[in-house]
Amino acid sequence: MSNQQLSSRSTCAQALEAFGSALPLTSSRVLVTGATAGIGIDTAAALAAAGAAVTFTARSDASAAAALEQITAIATQLQATVPKLVALAPHSPLKIDHVVLDLGSLASVKAGVEAFTSKHPEPLDILINNAGVFGMPHTLSKDGYEMHFAVNHLGHFLLTSLLLPAVLASKHKRIVNLSSVSHTTPSTLNFDDLLKRERSYLALHAYGNSKLCNVYHANELHRRFHDAQGLSTVSVHPGDMISTSISRQRLLWRFVFFLASPFTKSVTQGASTTVVAALASESVIPSSSYLIDCKVTPTSAAARLQEPAVRLWDLSVELVKQYLTPEALALVSN
Ligand SMILES: NC(=O)c1ccc[n+]([C@@H]2O[C@H](COP(=O)([O-])OP(=O)(O)OC[C@H]3O[C@@H](n4cnc5c(N)ncnc54)[C@H](OP(=O)(O)O)[C@@H]3O)[C@@H](O)[C@H]2O)c1
Repeated sequence: MSNQQLSSRSTCAQALEAFGSALPLTSSRVLVTGATAGIGIDTAAALAAAGAAVTFTARSDASAAAALEQITAIATQLQATVPKLVALAPHSPLKIDHVVLDLGSLASVKAGVEAFTSKHPEPLDILINNAGVFGMPHTLSKDGYEMHFAVNHLGHFLLTSLLLPAVLASKHKRIVNLSSVSHTTPSTLNFDDLLKRERSYLALHAYGNSKLCNVYHANELHRRFHDAQGLSTVSVHPGDMISTSISRQRLLWRFVFFLASPFTKSVTQGASTTVVAALASESVIPSSSYLIDCKVTPTSAAARLQEPAVRLWDLSVELVKQYLTPEALALVSN
């Protein structure tokens, strides 16, 4: 298995070909958040094509139905064209389903995880925290937290904590957090204004902060559960200004992303780094790595600090603890 032949323009097909020795994933279960648009669709399709049983999250059954069509079409195409997958034919039917949850509501995350675990009580090999919002006007979530922090970090923190027992019981034990190069913009996390960000709100700062939280979350999961329990975590920057739905919040962002689109990665090129993060063995991608263009890259200096990562972890546990199961609470409180 190698990522050396992969580059910024590698697609999911090339990532699957490069990591062919990890395939098929026929006994693996994967959960991808936010696969109703953008990078999540291609990520879910690639892993389903590789044989995994894939569950994706959606905010409604209607958006899930539309996404399922797209994911199925892309996965079928990959199975017919990627040589390592063609060699595995005949393929068993694709195993893709969805669970409805809204990461901006802690109660909804808990209900969604309960629905997922009652349907799939088996171990969860790969959790991909992909869903995200960008550039939103100042908005508070159902629980009263600034929306970038709520969706990009806190909802995923609760989801991950609830699913941690299932991930730790699995063979692969991998958690991938979609961060961004925007994690480098804050020089520090401002804990005084982290939850509501009411003082001089700037959407890009709120996004950058939430993406720094994603790296801290992955690093702290690694510190707590790697040596003791074999968990491996990877943070990912998929690429710059990829034309997905991420720019939907403002006409200005849509225009800027449109102008940049001839020079940016396609969606499958963006998703390839996530596919590598999900499939690579630890000898290729060490746990707690940060990937850009399918390769290990240093994070910002701020993201390497342990003190804010621990402080964020403790704060997040406090904010979600009423939604945790006793088993999850015991794990994340240690
Ligand atoms: N595109 C880029 O250039 C870029 C660059 C760096 C990092 N990233 C990161 O990559 C990840 C994927 O981004 P993308 O570009 O694929 O974005 P996208 O096309 O907007 O897709 C985002 C996904 O997240 C879901 N989502 C949004 N709010 C949610 C909520 N409250 N609860 C549950 N799901 C929610 C969306 O569901 P709905 O369809 O229901 O809204 C959608 O499925 C994000 O974490 C983003 O920060 C993207």
